[in-house]
Amino acid sequence: MTNKTHFLDEPYGAYYHREVLKEDEELTRVGPGTPCGEYMRRFWHPVAVSDDLKGLPKAIRILGEDLVVFRDGSGAVGLLELHCAHRAASLEFGLIEERGIRCCYHGWVFDVDGKILKMPGVEGNLKDRLYQGAYPVVEKYGLVFAYMGPPNKKPEFPDSANFHLPGYQPAIPTVNVWPCNWPQAKDNNMDPAHAAILHDHEAQNGVGGYSGFSPAFADFGVMDWADTPFGMVYIVTRRVNDNVWVRLGESVLPTNMHVPSGKEDGKEVHEPDFVSGAGWLVPIDDEHTLRIDLVLIPDTVERFQPEIYGQDGNRPYELRQRIPSDYDAQVSQRPIAIHAMERLVSTDKGVIMLRNLIREGIRAVQRGEDPPGIVREPYTIVPTYGSNTVIHIPPAPTEEEDERLLRETGQRVATQIIEGGGSHRLIPDR
Ligand code: FES
Ligand SMILES: [Fe+2]
Repeated sequence: MTNKTHFLDEPYGAYYHREVLKEDEELTRVGPGTPCGEYMRRFWHPVAVSDDLKGLPKAIRILGEDLVVFRDGSGAVGLLELHCAHRAASLEFGLIEERGIRCCYHGWVFDVDGKILKMPGVEGNLKDRLYQGAYPVVEKYGLVFAYMGPPNKKPEFPDSANFHLPGYQPAIPTVNVWPCNWPQAKDNNMDPAHAAILHDHEAQNGVGGYSGFSPAFADFGVMDWADTPFGMVYIVTRRVNDNVWVRLGESVLPTNMHVPSGKEDGKEVHEPDFVSGAGWLVPIDDEHTLRIDLVLIPDTVERFQPEIYGQDGNRPYELRQRIPSDYDAQVSQRPIAIHAMERLVSTDKGVIMLRNLIREGIRAVQRGEDPPGIVREPYTIVPTYGSNTVIHIPPAPTEEEDERLLRETGQRVATQIIEGGGSHRLIPDR
């Protein structure tokens, strides 16, 4: 008898699906001491929006840890453990000082690095020996990035070439909390097949906003995937009349992605554009993910917050049912999607590759090594490869030959882009 939980091979067989199998804990758990949690703690992650830090501290949860983020009167940003070192009152009720934050309960004052500046009325020298737990931060692109790993392993900040492209600036970021485990949101980043189905609902209904997809995405195209120095890309190559359109979507491990414009329709020939909607999927805890979208806009316009369709649960339920989008599909895969209950097929090759890359990183950390993608050289600008390219190449005589032509063209363009340094070459005076 086959194991019907894994592979149901008869009609009306739901009865056999008794068991909910175990999750893939190596990838899904992110708390302190877990394999993926320790891997995640080797990278810088965005945890807050710079402009949100005005006057009041903000309680946040990242990688299963409760923290407070604030900007003190001198402009310095602090990321501290939420519970006060004295008797655990939450520092979200703390008062911002010219330097540091003052606990509301007994007035202990903590600097942004955790040093105790004041301990009113307390005898002895405890103040000079004890620290509040703190994590280092940097502000970039209007976001606050944190490093939550071992202090002696702190990497350099991997500055993204995406935000150095001449003529562009980051828009006002959009932040949403997704009530689901992080890998299922991340899987989507290497799953271009869904654009032809899920996002076609949006194209058909004339919605999609700034991030929307053109009707040209309804064609699956020829799909491929390739490794990059900092992660991987998908390569989708489509025939548009006498043109071939090559689209590279990019995953920078572990939480960053670069999605080229969805407005592309392949009708106009052009070089790789590298103008991406950047995003991050940062684990809040095992069942919640912080999604930050930060698209590029021309630097000639005033900064605004573009409409990002379908990336939150705030739409009316009926509309979510009639025109479902990414949030609805991915959050509904269960709070923690169970990989053992999936049936991965040819369109999921990128998902398999991505999970393997993450697993390699997790295991490198377990062996005591730096995971792939760690930057040790100061001021490194990490190239991006996410792009649309359109080339004039008329169709081959038969459908089969044309498919081969598309695949070869896609692979050639991707290799040229990756080996040519991606968006690096567009950045002056690097
Ligand atoms: S609990 Fe914070 S100062 Fe006492
Ligand atoms: Fe999507």
